[in-house]
Amino acid sequence: MDKELEQIKQKTLQDLDQAQDLKSWDAIRVATLGKSAFLTQKLKELGTFPAELRKERGALLNRLRNELVQAIDTRKAVLEEIELNEKLSAEALDITLPVPVYTGVTHPLRRTIEEIIAIFGAMNFKVVDGPNRDTDWFNFSALNIDEHHPARADHDTFYLPTRTSEGHQHLLRTQTSTVQIRILLDQKPPIRIIAPGRTYRADHDATHSPMFHQCEGMVVDKHITLGHLKGCLIDFLRAFFALPTLPVRFRSSYFPFTEPSMEIDIGWNRKTGELGGGSDWLEILGAGLMHSRVLANCGVNPQEWQAFAFGVGIERLTMLKYGISDLRSFYESDLRWLRYYGFQSFRSVALHEGI
Ligand code: DAH
Repeated sequence: MDKELEQIKQKTLQDLDQAQDLKSWDAIRVATLGKSAFLTQKLKELGTFPAELRKERGALLNRLRNELVQAIDTRKAVLEEIELNEKLSAEALDITLPVPVYTGVTHPLRRTIEEIIAIFGAMNFKVVDGPNRDTDWFNFSALNIDEHHPARADHDTFYLPTRTSEGHQHLLRTQTSTVQIRILLDQKPPIRIIAPGRTYRADHDATHSPMFHQCEGMVVDKHITLGHLKGCLIDFLRAFFALPTLPVRFRSSYFPFTEPSMEIDIGWNRKTGELGGGSDWLEILGAGLMHSRVLANCGVNPQEWQAFAFGVGIERLTMLKYGISDLRSFYESDLRWLRYYGFQSFRSVALHEGI
């Protein structure tokens, strides 16, 4: 090979070797193989050579060109790989970094509400709610609790200073039973609802809070009997506590809005706190067949429709299920407590997994 061509070759190979990125590689490619490149010029000039020389020189130039093309391609592959590796390492996820475990948890009261919804949802109940600020008519009168009834005082009601245009006193609802009335006025039977929500009473100690939660339930249909109420609540309690043989007792009681009325107890061991075992009973729910006067107050004919209703305290259910002893801890927003008793939010409640 002539000296000049040998120099071109060495220079190009050296430049390629030093090219650190695809941009400088491309500049070398153009300078070596482009239209005005030395080699291209030399190939063009071949036509001016005499035939015998042309063949030999042409072969020489082409061999050189092929060598350079191959060197250029090889360098390109190397540079592409370097660039890819750089990109990957810049974007790489460091899987050795600890994943933040607590991105937020579901509060145990919310969890209980979700569980209640899942269980009653499977029994075809719809979830509804009513306003927290209600009136004495919805909270008491329509529920057959007349003006002089002691229950009005028992509830330690937070009365508000305003009245409706009909003269009904505003208050913070003391029970979710208000929702029975609102739904009866609003919907035609048959009806099957639960109404979890906040309730308020002026009371504060280890087992009472001025704001707490209840869940109301109501079924209005034809030929409703105590048997339906019992079956429904036994199923609920056994599913909620995940104890298929949990003893459930129905004890006669009194509520102004039900007739007959009952309180429902579950079996437990007072000493150990264990549910389902032992010979003690723990009150957990209020229920009954809805009083004909309540149905009539809402324009539902009690001769045609029967109904049962129940109310349950959500704090109580939660404390029993998860062994929480002081009700006030639910509202203290203590992060350590929430992380201990809270639930990973991505684990939603599913009946088929067992509650
Ligand atoms: N509202 C009652 C309470 O707060 C609980 C209750 C009892 C609700 C009987 C009902 C029921 O629907 O039928 O103590």
